[in-house]
Order: sequence, then structure tokens, then C-alpha cells
Amino acid sequence: MRSLDDFSGITLRDEPLAPYTWLKIGGPAQYFVTPRSAAELADVIRCCRDLQVAVRVLGSGSNILVRDAGVSGVVLRLADETFARVAVDGQRITAGAGASLSHLISHSVKAGLAGLDALVGIPGSVGGALHGNAGGKNGDIGQFVRSVQVVTVAGDLFVRREDELTFAYRSSSLNELIILEAEFELNREDPDEITRRMRTLWIMRKATQPLSFQSAGCIFKNPRGMSAGWLIDQAGLKGTSVGNAEISDRHANFIVSTPGATAEDVRRLIDLARSRVSAQFGVDLELEIQIW
Ligand code: EPU
Repeated sequence: MRSLDDFSGITLRDEPLAPYTWLKIGGPAQYFVTPRSAAELADVIRCCRDLQVAVRVLGSGSNILVRDAGVSGVVLRLADETFARVAVDGQRITAGAGASLSHLISHSVKAGLAGLDALVGIPGSVGGALHGNAGGKNGDIGQFVRSVQVVTVAGDLFVRREDELTFAYRSSSLNELIILEAEFELNREDPDEITRRMRTLWIMRKATQPLSFQSAGCIFKNPRGMSAGWLIDQAGLKGTSVGNAEISDRHANFIVSTPGATAEDVRRLIDLARSRVSAQFGVDLELEIQIW
């Protein structure tokens, strides 16, 4: 049987995950694997399945809280160029899951393709954005998807077409292990016009969100018809800190971290927000970020 030692050239042992996350928090991954091709990726996945080793996929680390103890098993990262290609073909644009969302947006705008510009300022990789159907009031990524290439836990690669996919508020039906690549169909528009609209959105986002601080974006999903930020704000928690983590005083659905912050600090703030909002409004907040 194969072993993870067969992948020693692309594997780091006990690699600290904090530098790969936006919160800059979290312990090490037992195995941190960065495959160089889709074939190598499938090989690693098959090996993990045979060995019954848990596999997690790390995108750009912008929507995740890694526990201080770290994680056992394999953390995969699609950091190689091969997973980050972006190519335009008429009104269609294809992007690798490892590409950053901002890279995809700037490519589409340059090509005079509108739609994804509504996501300006949202951090993340294309894979992560698809998985959680990233978006805001002006639209989400799922509405532009035509097909997605995925890899299953068995290491099989296949394409899921638009009609077999559903995207809802901050969720998608993409439940295979890995998202490899996606094709989007966008609308033609003058690049200057798209840029103007994007600039306005960006200014608004910068004014209301702590974008220059270390954070994981919004911590909770918005409960139906309500804003988690408003609820936490009304519960009087803006500016509340535990250790070196703080509920942002700019937007209460963001937790910002400063050097020395631990996952435990963030987790305690999460619990506090949940319990206060539940006690005051009878609303249970659901996490948007993933906790590893
Ligand atoms: N509000 C407060 N206090 C706060 C924060 C918000 O009173 O501390 C109020 C605002 O004044 C506004 C309402 O709550 O009346 C909604 O706030 P906002 O416009 O900031 O939007 P949001 O619902 O909090 C959502 C997404 C953001 C996205 C923005 C802009 C979620 C959980 N959040 O925020 O996405 O950037 O819309 O489109 O869906 C993310 O998902 O990580 C994220 C940041």
C-alpha cells in the first residue's frame, strides 16, 4: 500500500497553519500537502482514502478559524499555478479553484464582462467562494456558474453542470471533496462602467467593514430577513474583546485579531455573541466561517 511518505516532495509535516489564514491564528497541520497537478492531487486523495486519513482543503484561509491544537490528517492546498489559471472565451470565463476571487474579478472586468464585479472586496479563493456561494446584497457567485470540475473522496474527477447544482444563501450543493475549476457566463458591458460601479461598492464596503484588519470576514450568516451584525451591535457587543481578539467596532459581525490572539479567544467571542443574541432576541446565530 502507498504511504504519505511517497509524497514527501510536496508534503510538510506539522506545518503551522496560522500564516495561511486571514486571522493569523491556529496550530499546525499534521501533513500539509501542495500537489502540482490534478493527477498528483487525485493520487494523494486516493492514498488518503486507502489509509483512512482525514483530508481538508484550505483555500485562501479567509473564512476559517483553525483551533490552537491544529488538525490531524492532511491539509491540501492548491497553491500551484496550475490550479490558478483564468481564461476568457467570449462571454465565458474559466478559473481554477486556487485563483483568488479578486484575480478572477479583475480579469473579467478587463475583458468587459460584468457580474462578478458585485463581489469586489470579498476575500477568498475561487474554490472557497463557490463552496460557500460568496456574495452580498448585489449578487453571489453561484448565479454565474455554468459548470464546475470536482474531485471526489475516491479521487475521481468529473464535471457538474449548472442544472445539477444549486446555490443558496452562503451555501452550495458542491459537496465533493475538492473543487478544481469552474466556468462562468457573464454579461458584456463597458469596462469603464463596470469599474465605476465597482469603485462605489468598494468605497461602501471599506466604510462599513474593517477591511484593513485581520479578520475572517463575517463570522455568522445573516438569519432570514435580519442582519447578524445589527443583532450583535444591538446586544451591545461592539468593541468587546477577549485576549487579543475583538468584536469589530466598525461591523459587529467581524471579529478582528491582533498578534498573540488565539483560536480560543475568538471562540469565546463567538459563544458570547451567540448567547447574548439568543437571550435578547431569541435568534440562534449560525456560523458562516468554518472551524477546524
Ligand atoms: N449593522 C449595524 N451594526 C453593525 C453592522 C451592521 O447596525 O455592526 C446594520 C447596517 O447598518 C445595515 C445592516 O445591519 O443596516 C446590514 O449591514 P451590512 O449592509 O453591513 O450588510 P451585512 O448583512 O452585515 C452582508 C454580507 C457581507 C457583505 C455585505 C455587503 C453576510 C453574513 N454578510 O453583510 O459579507 O460584504 O452584506 O454586501 O451575508 C461575508 O460574508 O464575509 C461578508 C462580509
